[in-house]
Amino acid sequence: MEYHSIPLLLFTTLFLLVSECGALDTISTKKAIKDGETIVSHGEMYELGFFSPGKSKNRYLGIWYKKISTGTVVWVANRDTPINDASGTLKVCRDGNLVILSGDNTVIWSSNSTVSASVGSNDFVAQLLDTGNLVVWDENRNSTNKNLLWESFDYPGDTLLPGMKFGKDLVTGLQKSLTSWKSPDDPSCGLYNHILDTNGYPQAFGRHGSVLLSRLGPWTGVSFSGFATEIPNHISSTEFVISEKEIYVKYELISSVVERRVLTWDGKLMILRWIDQKREWIVYADTGGDSSCPFELCGSYGLCSINKHPPCSCMQGFEPKFPQEWKASDWSSGCQHKPLDSMNRGGFQKISGIKLPDTRFSSYNHSMTLGECEMTCRRNISCTAYANLDIRNGGSGCLLWFKQLMDAREYEGEDHNIYIKMVASELAGGHQSDSDKWKRVLTTILSISSAALVLFAVASACRKKKRRLHMKKKEDLEGAFDKKNTSVQMNFLDDIPFICLYKIAKATDNFSVSNKIGEGGFGPVYKGVLEDGQEVAVKRLSSTSQQGLDEFRNELVSIAKLQHRNLVKLLGYCIDGNEMVLIYEYMANKSLDSFIFDETRSSMLDWPQRFQIILGMARGILYLHQDSRFQIIHRDLKAGNILLDSDMNPKISDFGLARTFVGHDTTAKTKKVVGTYGYIPPEYAVHGRFSIKSDVFSFGVMVLEIVSGKKNREFSHEDHNDNLLGHTWRLYKENKSIQLMNACLRASCVDSEVLRSIHVGLLCVQHHAKDRPSMLSVLLMLLSEGVLPEPKQPAFFTDENYGEINCASSLDENMITRLYPR
Ligand SMILES: *[C@@H]1O[C@H](CO)[C@@H](O)[C@H](O)[C@H]1NC(C)=O
Ligand SMILES: *[C@@H]1O[C@H](CO)[C@@H](O)[C@H](O)[C@H]1NC(C)=O
Ligand SMILES: *[C@@H]1O[C@H](CO)[C@@H](O)[C@H](O)[C@H]1NC(C)=O
Ligand SMILES: *[C@@H]1O[C@H](CO)[C@@H](O)[C@H](O)[C@H]1NC(C)=O
Ligand SMILES: *[C@@H]1O[C@H](CO)[C@@H](O)[C@H](O)[C@H]1NC(C)=O
Ligand SMILES: *[C@@H]1O[C@H](CO)[C@@H](O)[C@H](O)[C@H]1NC(C)=O
Ligand SMILES: *[C@@H]1O[C@H](CO)[C@@H](O)[C@H](O)[C@H]1NC(C)=O
Ligand SMILES: *[C@@H]1O[C@H](CO)[C@@H](O)[C@H](O)[C@H]1NC(C)=O
Repeated sequence: MEYHSIPLLLFTTLFLLVSECGALDTISTKKAIKDGETIVSHGEMYELGFFSPGKSKNRYLGIWYKKISTGTVVWVANRDTPINDASGTLKVCRDGNLVILSGDNTVIWSSNSTVSASVGSNDFVAQLLDTGNLVVWDENRNSTNKNLLWESFDYPGDTLLPGMKFGKDLVTGLQKSLTSWKSPDDPSCGLYNHILDTNGYPQAFGRHGSVLLSRLGPWTGVSFSGFATEIPNHISSTEFVISEKEIYVKYELISSVVERRVLTWDGKLMILRWIDQKREWIVYADTGGDSSCPFELCGSYGLCSINKHPPCSCMQGFEPKFPQEWKASDWSSGCQHKPLDSMNRGGFQKISGIKLPDTRFSSYNHSMTLGECEMTCRRNISCTAYANLDIRNGGSGCLLWFKQLMDAREYEGEDHNIYIKMVASELAGGHQSDSDKWKRVLTTILSISSAALVLFAVASACRKKKRRLHMKKKEDLEGAFDKKNTSVQMNFLDDIPFICLYKIAKATDNFSVSNKIGEGGFGPVYKGVLEDGQEVAVKRLSSTSQQGLDEFRNELVSIAKLQHRNLVKLLGYCIDGNEMVLIYEYMANKSLDSFIFDETRSSMLDWPQRFQIILGMARGILYLHQDSRFQIIHRDLKAGNILLDSDMNPKISDFGLARTFVGHDTTAKTKKVVGTYGYIPPEYAVHGRFSIKSDVFSFGVMVLEIVSGKKNREFSHEDHNDNLLGHTWRLYKENKSIQLMNACLRASCVDSEVLRSIHVGLLCVQHHAKDRPSMLSVLLMLLSEGVLPEPKQPAFFTDENYGEINCASSLDENMITRLYPR
């Protein structure tokens, strides 16, 4: 480059002297770095340079750990503007801007720093500090006045490092928040963000687009309410600052343990700590655990509890506003004050052990005492509750709530008292604003509390539709509500994108018959191609029958939070008037039954493929059963519900009949037996008792069907009247199990695997549920070589048996229709 000013020469010389034994930590107007070159911070904690994340070939400028966890990226400059070759350069311009140039010298990214007037020289340096902060300053700096122009810490990506501020600069309006990557291979801005909301008393929000998913806070003086991980510890200390200039939270490490906080691409805020002996990050805390109490699940004055089922209850002194809805697990309308009586004379009710309610509509004063706080709340008719602002040193300050209390959660270990105003219910009802009522009506009509929010907030492409909905008269909606009578609760939906009906219509040629690929649990299924070319399966609720609606609801609630490679993935949903549609990934090879029971197609599935399918199914069911928080019983496992992707990987589908269990209460009884004939166990068919062992039974039937290529239900044999299970048992007893195998597998089979599969299949279909193994044992038995336990006689009965059962247990008509295969 051209002319070196004297200060720069001096500086450069000094710099070279200082850093001659270490790598450079600085770039300047004279020294750029190209793709392939890096700079390393003074203590070698961090490194900066170009990189490609995961499987991506794109080049990004980023900062990553150098000494530990080498390569773990903590910050990316050009998140949304990658370079597609190795031609990138990072340089400091003479105007103080840090820029990334591509091969043809176009500016890909710029720090957009504005130079202050006082700067004399036009030479600037960018330095990577040992904190992970990339700073640009006037190189005429001295130790007391650094003349900082720009720092990467002002622009967090998905990672919060010690010393970074999370909050808002009230002077410039700059919001310092976290935004997830789109995927592990793509650092561009994903839909999840984590932000300090400064309306009312500050609290942290986790959002998906503009939809609120979770809430941390407010700040209690030692931690965010409901998130006790900030409580003083030996590893990090957290500071919360609220001033006229800025509001932020910042943590600093106080030991040698390295910690980072990351908003993962799938929306979890995690606190990770580096364990040097193991050389890995462990999750110290994660807000994902809040997912069983999503934002506003329990409505106003509701109290959510992750340990209870159902999760919602009313605060003390309150009762459900709409008891019918509440009973039907739609808690979104929340609770109202109980009528005042001689026992309850108004005043304030003290509650503790809860995460404080939403503070967006609150005000606060740091110097008021609790007594003054109470007086203020008592005098102001809009005030609904008060509490200390800071719980340290016996409590100080005043926090006042002005609207119905939302999103409170039972939370052990929260010492914060809140005082809730008790008033007569009519009075409280009078406060319900028109817009609240409107929202309630609308959310109920859409059957989903958050769908409305999703509809209004996320789907910007749906603006026209939105306006139309707004214009619809309220009475219409209420009328429609009465007609439809759906009480559905689906806060689990927050993670699933809403897709506009017109897009779905376009993708499926207006649901044309030629695109129909099948008939699912509650309606036809169409193949569709979205605008971006993605192939999808579109399941449409055929009628507004209650049964269909229930299944639709069930499917959504069950599958919304599930992610496993052996479960079919829900990509989106749509509710629009009477149309209810679910959109799934498209399964190129249809369902398992289309192969194994088809004479010509069955030869396309050799034994190794079949064994992989058996293992995949087992893994998928295990995932459903194994989660300690929500245990899911599918209740309708059958070959027709096992879909195959283009690589013949099995994926379980159709969760319309699934049941979710919270905690350990995993046996239930139902009056309405649903499921598919031939796949359900006797205790369920006869007594309506189902448990995870009912799914194990269905799995066993499927394994025997896969091996034999015969349907349990339609099985017939010239020598006897047994069904497939009985026949298998007979062969097993006669040491002739291998004869069960479908002839087309002879060439490809591995005898030991086939025999093991049959044996495990028999263990799964034993008569007594308690004898059947868990899915974990099933998987272990399939994968191991060990000796297997002896199966007892299976529950096998013939078609006639079923008829008797139907009469004997006087099942309703509904059940009988459902017992027939669909
Ligand atoms: C810098 O400004 C340009 C133009 O306003 C904008 O497109 C770009 O996103 C900004 N870059 C950063 C890093 O904010
Ligand atoms: C550093 O700069 C400030 C302001 O430019 C000046 O007042 C101070 O004397 C300088 N200190 C040194 C050690 O040069
Ligand atoms: C806070 O309360 C004190 C005592 O009531 C009062 O003097 C002060 O003006 C209040 N501050 C604000 C910002 O309202
Ligand atoms: C009650 O408090 C709210 C919020 O601070 C304020 O806007 C309103 O004027 C107050 N009402 C009365 C009657 O003081
Ligand atoms: C809704 O339907 C159920 C039965 O399906 C019935 O018991 C209930 O009374 C109905 N509710 C309303 C508000 O019509
Ligand atoms: C789908 O229906 C809309 C409205 O009825 C119509 O405008 C459009 O042409 C139809 N598209 C196809 C592919 O049939
Ligand atoms: C499964 O689907 C893929 C993609 O459509 C196809 O290439 C493959 O042949 C199919 N496999 C079988 C066994 O039909
Ligand atoms: C089955 O075979 C095993 C060994 O192959 C033998 O020990 C057993 O007695 C046989 N059982 C019958 C019923 O033939």
